[in-house]
Amino acid sequence: TTHEVRIDPLDRSTRCAAGQSILESCLRDDIWLPHSCTQGTCGSCKMKVLSGEVDHRDSSEYTLTPEEREAGIALGCQATPRSALVLEPVEQVDPDDGIPRHPLRDHSGTVVVLDDIARDIRRLVVELDEPMSFNPGQYAEIVVPGTGVARQYSMANPPSETSRLEFHVRRTPGGIATDGWVFAGLAVGERIELKGPLGDFGMPVAQDEPAILIAGGTGLAPLKSIVRHALDHDLAPELHLYHGGRSRQDLYDVEFFEELAREHPHFGYRPCLSEEDWDGATGLVTDVVLADFQSCRGLSAYLCGPPGMIEAGVKALKRRRMAPRKIFREEFLDAS
Ligand code: FAD
Ligand code: FES
Repeated sequence: TTHEVRIDPLDRSTRCAAGQSILESCLRDDIWLPHSCTQGTCGSCKMKVLSGEVDHRDSSEYTLTPEEREAGIALGCQATPRSALVLEPVEQVDPDDGIPRHPLRDHSGTVVVLDDIARDIRRLVVELDEPMSFNPGQYAEIVVPGTGVARQYSMANPPSETSRLEFHVRRTPGGIATDGWVFAGLAVGERIELKGPLGDFGMPVAQDEPAILIAGGTGLAPLKSIVRHALDHDLAPELHLYHGGRSRQDLYDVEFFEELAREHPHFGYRPCLSEEDWDGATGLVTDVVLADFQSCRGLSAYLCGPPGMIEAGVKALKRRRMAPRKIFREEFLDAS
């Protein structure tokens, strides 16, 4: 069975299959709705149910409080219809914001590169059978064969490369997708199933302010896509990229970014090490940013990495007077 789901302020409808999330049905029908994690943890996909009945399925009470449920709010990425629905996203959507939107699609492709590039980090490059359009900063959900699970990985290539997707995958000890597959059985030449694009992180249109980009570990992936896209299209007057690791073994693509910095005087690259003395920046990446910028007023920032780093980064930027609405972030939360 399918149910008609109408998004009231946009005046658009989709037919959502029972068991499919409302968000997924909309994104496949090219109806853009606010969302980030698609796994029920961030809350950015909240919708008000104006009429009809939803099944909340796995919605956790940390993301959707009992009071919100009572008030008719649902998580678009978890809820599925029980009847015909009329919904309104809680976060407003501006269909004329100039940001290009790309419908969600299933894709398959072949692994063409699988390289160890840093301690516990592999570069995975997939040649798609059909091109995928996306915005810099978005991610794909890769199916882990034989497990019934899928995991999110951000594209590191710019959107101009639509058929060859680059991913940076960090090994999680005991992790199904990483320890059990990308770092175990997966090999060049194998076929991969994925869907995308997903997420609303990124810098898809021009901005007047200088931008600070802060990455921890494989949080570099979406920022690499953003930096390459922004430099190709002259999107920001200045870009300052920071990449944090513990020691030199954690850094990767250093020469690539050094070369970019030589070619583009308005792009700066600062790798930072927290547990090794060297001739570069030493300390936690967020402390290095604090030392480099006395004021962040009028600047914007893009942060990606583990939740602890994001939290410290947001705090540091606010201390330096960056406006909260100028701070964009993507947390690599795992499903556990
Ligand atoms: P999981 O199997 O999910 O395990 C996660 C943790 O839970 C591990 O510590 C594991 O030991 C523990 N665990 C698992 N099963 C159990 C159990 N039964 N009991 C107790 N503990 C258990 N990562 C990247 O490296 N690169 C990216 O570009 C990237 N982009 C992302 C983008 C988004 C929007 C999000 C949300 C996440 C992103 N991630 C990225 C993280 C990635 O999606 C995975 O969460 C990560 O790779 C771990 O997946 P896994 O299957 O290996 O681990
Ligand atoms: Fe639905 Fe994050 S909770 S997109």
